[in-house]
Amino acid sequence: MLNDTKHIVVIDDEKYICNIIAEALSEFDDYQLQKFSNPADAMDYISANSVDLVLTDLVMGDYSGVQILEHVLKFHSDAVVILMTGYPTVKTAISVLKKGGYDYLIKPFKLDDLKSTIKRGLDNQQIKRENVELRSQLELMTVADEISRGVKMPQLLNLIVNTAVSVLPGSSAAILLKAKKSGHFRLKCMAGSYGNTSIEKFLRGEDNKRQKESDFKQLWSLDEEIKEDGIELKRSYISYPLISRDEIVGMMNLVYTGPFSYISPGQKRMISLLVSYAANAVESNFLDKNLRNSYFQTIKTLANAVEARDRYTAGHTDRVYRLARIIAGEMGWSTTKLAELRTGCILHDIGKIGVPDSVLNKPDRLTDFERNIMMKHPELGVKILHGIPFLKPAMPYIIAHHEMYDGSGYPHGLKGEDIPIEGRLLAVVDTYDAITSDRPYRDRRDPQIALDELKKFRGTQFDPEIVDIFLKAFDDGLIKQDVISRGQSSLKMKMLMPT
Ligand SMILES: [Fe+2]
Repeated sequence: MLNDTKHIVVIDDEKYICNIIAEALSEFDDYQLQKFSNPADAMDYISANSVDLVLTDLVMGDYSGVQILEHVLKFHSDAVVILMTGYPTVKTAISVLKKGGYDYLIKPFKLDDLKSTIKRGLDNQQIKRENVELRSQLELMTVADEISRGVKMPQLLNLIVNTAVSVLPGSSAAILLKAKKSGHFRLKCMAGSYGNTSIEKFLRGEDNKRQKESDFKQLWSLDEEIKEDGIELKRSYISYPLISRDEIVGMMNLVYTGPFSYISPGQKRMISLLVSYAANAVESNFLDKNLRNSYFQTIKTLANAVEARDRYTAGHTDRVYRLARIIAGEMGWSTTKLAELRTGCILHDIGKIGVPDSVLNKPDRLTDFERNIMMKHPELGVKILHGIPFLKPAMPYIIAHHEMYDGSGYPHGLKGEDIPIEGRLLAVVDTYDAITSDRPYRDRRDPQIALDELKKFRGTQFDPEIVDIFLKAFDDGLIKQDVISRGQSSLKMKMLMPT
């Protein structure tokens, strides 16, 4: 529902005309009327108050009705402005309508004509406002749709501030989230025009407008008088807390051109809805993170359990990750891909949990039967982690780290670039680490031997491009053996050597 009380302003330098109009309006239901015979006073009033309809004379001493019209529309873009004149010309009439005037009354006019023109203007305005509200509701539905599609929190918060700005035209908005440990509010996203220091400071939560603790706990607003291009107007600073389970988890700050009271109840309701969407997004993100953490802890426990059964290859996963991280960095992988690399390295041998100790720790050569059991570990790993959506990016590492470039690897005998890049990368760094670290049957070997091995099998066992990048990284001093093997485990866990 829109605000039903209509704010009407009548301006005419002849007072009796103002009075006649006031009398004619008395039969309208819900309105507030202001009469002005001085146009300057009227303009001051218009720039600082809510206005729905203005009736103004066209010629009033130094002021023209067209000037008033422009002034009204500057502050109230959907206001209805009706001009009155005793000296009509076609040129003036066209000019008024072109500039956004609603209609034109020729004095002397019949009161019935006046009333019907005002009624028509207000009805028209009501329809336009309802359309605006409908459009905003459609935008809200877009947000709701994105939520149901499971869009990630940063994108969702971004969509929410952008929708807030379109619900409140000319405003700017930001969402800040409260850091759990420090309790500080940190900016997550901003939208609208905030190229003004005072606006930006408020949006970022760096202002001192809110003094009391309670200012942060409920809807808070402050109207401030400002002067822009010599005109005095009001700007409102608004802050909504984001509340989840009775706790403040963030806030949405808004700066609106106009006093807070200009914002219609419908707009306020839509902003409140957006704020609750944002609070829910924070809540589900928190739950999701908790769920991810506990999943990840479980998986790490599993991976540690695998490592505990191996006597020889402590630190292998850590070293493989360090080497792979260097090469991936040289290949220009994105931050997301690098984070996935870490998970992939931790989990790549998780399938060995299903390989019996007698096979896993056999000091002698494996029989064909035993080797077949061992070769099942990539597929077993995929089976273990299947159905955990956030571990999906680790799958190529798990399934493809024993594939070979010429198609002679396992489990699928993939060839060339059919092997996921994650598997091709792991194959190279795995081999380098296997040769340069201690084995049950021999001591570690010199890095040069490992490099020769990579060169020898470049293009057959290994992706030639990755081998070249590895060799270059080594020549450039990026791979320092002592650092790789000595380094504190960044993974805080160690795992098995791949077969
Ligand atoms: Fe493996």
